[in-house]
Amino acid sequence: MCGIVGYVGNKQALTVVVDGLRRLEYRGYDSAGVAVVQDHKLEVRKKAGKLVNLETLLGTDPLPNSTTGIGHTRWATHGIPNDANAHPHTDVSNEIAVIHNGIIENFSELRAELQLAGVKLSSDTDTEVVAHLLNFEYPKSNNDLAESMRKVVRRLRGAFTLVAVHAQQPDVVVGARRNSPLVVGRGVGENFLASDVSAFISHTKNAIELGQDQVVELRHDKITITDFDGKPAVTKEYVVDWDAKAAEKGGFDLFMLKEIFEQPKAVAETLVGRLGEDGKLILEEMTLSIGQIANIEKIVFVACGTAFHSGMIGKYAMERWTRIPCEVELASEFRYRDPILNNRTLVVAISQSGETMDTLMAIRHAKSQGAKVLAICNTQGATIPRESDAVLYTRGGPEIAVASTKAFLTQVVAVELLSLYFAELRLDKPTAEIKQVMNELANISHQIDVVLDTTDAVNELAKKYVNAQSVLFIGRHVGFPVALEGALKLKELAYMHAEGFAAGELKHGPIALIEDGIPVVVIVPSLREEKELHEKVVSNIQEVRARGAKTILIVEEGDDSILDFADHIIRIPQTSSLLQPLVATVPLQVFSCALATLKGHDVDQPRNLAKSVTVE
Ligand code: AGP
Repeated sequence: MCGIVGYVGNKQALTVVVDGLRRLEYRGYDSAGVAVVQDHKLEVRKKAGKLVNLETLLGTDPLPNSTTGIGHTRWATHGIPNDANAHPHTDVSNEIAVIHNGIIENFSELRAELQLAGVKLSSDTDTEVVAHLLNFEYPKSNNDLAESMRKVVRRLRGAFTLVAVHAQQPDVVVGARRNSPLVVGRGVGENFLASDVSAFISHTKNAIELGQDQVVELRHDKITITDFDGKPAVTKEYVVDWDAKAAEKGGFDLFMLKEIFEQPKAVAETLVGRLGEDGKLILEEMTLSIGQIANIEKIVFVACGTAFHSGMIGKYAMERWTRIPCEVELASEFRYRDPILNNRTLVVAISQSGETMDTLMAIRHAKSQGAKVLAICNTQGATIPRESDAVLYTRGGPEIAVASTKAFLTQVVAVELLSLYFAELRLDKPTAEIKQVMNELANISHQIDVVLDTTDAVNELAKKYVNAQSVLFIGRHVGFPVALEGALKLKELAYMHAEGFAAGELKHGPIALIEDGIPVVVIVPSLREEKELHEKVVSNIQEVRARGAKTILIVEEGDDSILDFADHIIRIPQTSSLLQPLVATVPLQVFSCALATLKGHDVDQPRNLAKSVTVE
């Protein structure tokens, strides 16, 4: 939530900052703003709405040339998305500008304190208090912005990334980080701060992970990082392993479409080097010892949204292949119900961004109860993998569209690899199914490529249902999380009522929703692999057809037994049951993308959403 950029160097700060904001806009797009310092004067421009509104404003009311600047793209928490609440926020002297990602939980008492001291606040945000507090601290801190920041952040509760500039220190940008992400980019004669590396990747690939409770002072030739008390901090420098092109549209109209079509590659990358030639798995960065894995009595998958759906598939795979009891839980519910955890519990946290606050808080709770935590994550060096005992990286590359696509497929691959790995270590010898799955995984990218050939047909199908009031998705076993994922995609992109159900649950209530003409998408289990489940789903199809539903069946090649019950058929390649989500989800992603496009929605940046949810 919210994108932050800071720059000090030798280039026009405004160009660097606005370009960075464009790459971070997926994190929030309720408003955008910039501040630059020139001739000991602070200049701010900000505007409600997308970045393009700010760019228009900058066209009519330009900023002076400057080599120091900060910028923000907002996902609103405190205060409606208007110009006044847009960041940067300034102090009464108009010398300090502050941008913020997160929530300052004690902002009401700080506001009251400031009002008592005669400060007139000009926004409804929690952020503005920081600008005024910095103004109070600055003279008491030898006119040192970094020291003022350290003093102010010690008074704040909650989650925050803060970045500030001061008119009287024109060559300095100061950042602070607690719980929300902030990365430093080390350039030559220039340095950067950003919510993620995509903002500065076209300038430098050298990044420094900023740790919890750290303050950074950025100058064009110097980066100083301390803890909140001013003690030098231990930091980790790394080289980003993808380039700026990966975060561009690459000839597609939409990031989402590009990312859908990147899925065969993303899945292949996630598998590279992990399927050993001797049939054994190699998970190098998964640093849990054999003893620790043998010790596991229970596994809990925790995640949010799409990642939660991949966790559901993880539960099915892990229990089937290892017989370790598993639970799967929404991270936002997890710690508040005081779950039973001990040192024989493994918590598997799944997160594309590695910054989702609900998931982060869940793993902190799990660790405090003695559980081990393993992160499945797409973002190198993010907070969740950093705070976990072990990590398994998905290698999907940057996912820019707010709606997850390749993140989901690579997470499914990762949970299945993990399950196979645990099975390998805990079973005397692999079952025939495990051997088959290992073989199929080597070819799964190709299967995903094949299912992408249905795109035109799915686009045509979307035209038929563009005026549908509601779409239902049903499935059994791993088809259930696929149904949930299909419905989530449709809600977030097409803003249509959509629900995913376990097909067997229909008759326990949801079947009342079926009316004449309602489209019902059915993920049909493999007839070859899951005969019994297949029969049950066929019954469910007949139940909804008998009540007037139009059925859209996602069915594997060769299964003609359902032809009589289908209004529309989308074919997917034959796979083992537990790999079916990797092909069955793809047409559902395309369907939502097509419906949203037909409705004229912004597919990459759907209303009210943000890519990385860094507030609870
Ligand atoms: C799905 O399309 C959304 N982007 C959302 O549900 C997302 O999966 C969820 O917020 C979790 O994000 P994470 O994987 O970065 O933790």
